[in-house]
Amino acid sequence: MDVAVIGAGYVGLATAVGLTALGHSVDVGERNEERVAALRQGRSPIYEPELVSFLETAVSSGQLRFHPSNIEAVRNADVVFLAVPTPQGEDGAADTSIVFAVLDEITPVLEPGAILVMKSTVPVGTVGRIQEMLDERGAGATVVSNPEFLREGSAISDFLHPDRIVIGTSDQRAAERMIELYRGLQAPLVVTDPVSSEMIKYSANAFLSTRVTFANAIANLCEAVGADVKDVLLGMGYDNRIGFHFFNPGPGFGGSCFPKDTNALVAIADDAGYDFSLLKAVIHINDIQRERVVDHVRRGVGGTLEGATVAVWGLAFKAGTDDTRSSPAIAIVERLLEEGCVLRAHDPQARVSIEGVTQVNTPIEAVSDADALLIVTEWSDYRMVDLHHVATSMRGDAIIDARNLLDPDAVRRLGMRYQGIGR
Ligand code: UDX
Ligand code: UDX
Repeated sequence: MDVAVIGAGYVGLATAVGLTALGHSVDVGERNEERVAALRQGRSPIYEPELVSFLETAVSSGQLRFHPSNIEAVRNADVVFLAVPTPQGEDGAADTSIVFAVLDEITPVLEPGAILVMKSTVPVGTVGRIQEMLDERGAGATVVSNPEFLREGSAISDFLHPDRIVIGTSDQRAAERMIELYRGLQAPLVVTDPVSSEMIKYSANAFLSTRVTFANAIANLCEAVGADVKDVLLGMGYDNRIGFHFFNPGPGFGGSCFPKDTNALVAIADDAGYDFSLLKAVIHINDIQRERVVDHVRRGVGGTLEGATVAVWGLAFKAGTDDTRSSPAIAIVERLLEEGCVLRAHDPQARVSIEGVTQVNTPIEAVSDADALLIVTEWSDYRMVDLHHVATSMRGDAIIDARNLLDPDAVRRLGMRYQGIGR
């Protein structure tokens, strides 16, 4: 099929490249001209494993083309994906103004019979509103909800090996076209109405956020009662109703999706007259989880953060990506700066320019003469670092492991103090 994708970000790019792997011919509309220029040369503006090889192949074969004009991109397209930002608005609700601005631009040039696919995460009911608008304008196009579940750092394999494909439309023909588009992917199909499809997206992210937060809450209680959270979660996880996945305590969830989608779902519930108190509690606990990490650092440097030199390993919101959007690491770094700390930070992929933070090229450079080491992104690189070298390079003796990455006994055998999350 001739497919268009609007927005070449983490979701749009992975989707566009994934669709070429299924044999489709894809045109991408992207307003950032620098990004278009780089992509036309097969260079990826984001760090995403596996993406570059697919990108280079698809661009050099001519199967994947990038345009600074959305109108150029959608001309003659059978299917048009929207993957533009829906950032969090003032009131916590998702801001869909970019989605509607792009729709105003492309609706007049949509092919009659075209399928418009909503990949961006939009409030419940948005697809229905868009269909009414298209019908009023006589566009002759059908809009379908098709939420993405791509994780950054594994977006290409998530696209090619999805746990399920969700299609939200009450139009049989549109559903069949979507099933045909994804032919070649082995995955269960959930074909439902647009509202239920939009709810699946938010509910999935809200549940995963709740699961992580429950692990953090149990970890915090383990600290208070002297239990080891790793053993506690292990003991829980063998119950296959609970399992082990996505159950790692840490500094709280972050990233471009969970924080904004949990707030957006609370706003959707409020609008619908439902007080989603459970999710409000999750958001609150998540917000204070960062402060618990700051408290651990304060104790690690002897009670006063003012003037303390702290080494920070990790800036990305999780390992495997260069993305620092709503990163817990950045939130904690900013708190430590407020408290008067001197920070030297390392991350294998993410780059930041924050006043008061010196970003260095190796983990060891970060720890030299540091009073404490804070590990806040779970890059496996940090497991490989020679802890003895760390111990002899630091001035202080405290390691705060906000990802439970290291072996506490190995740290303590070096005469260092170890503080994890729940252990
Ligand atoms: C986006 C949405 O933010 C998210 O809600 C949704 O779930 C998936 O798609 P992401 O891909 O991570 O997430 O966003 P981002 O990396 O910011 O990429 C958006 C891209 O759209 C950027 O490259 C931006 O330049 C581009 N864009 C934005 C346009 O091409 N046109 C616009 O009008 C606005
Ligand atoms: C998420 C969803 O997983 C994905 O399906 C959706 O499409 C987009 O949002 P992503 O934002 O890439 O993907 O991150 P994810 O891997 O889900 O992690 C989210 C946050 O939770 C990160 O800050 C991560 O560090 C944290 N997390 C995750 C934990 O603290 N513990 C865990 O066990 C898992």
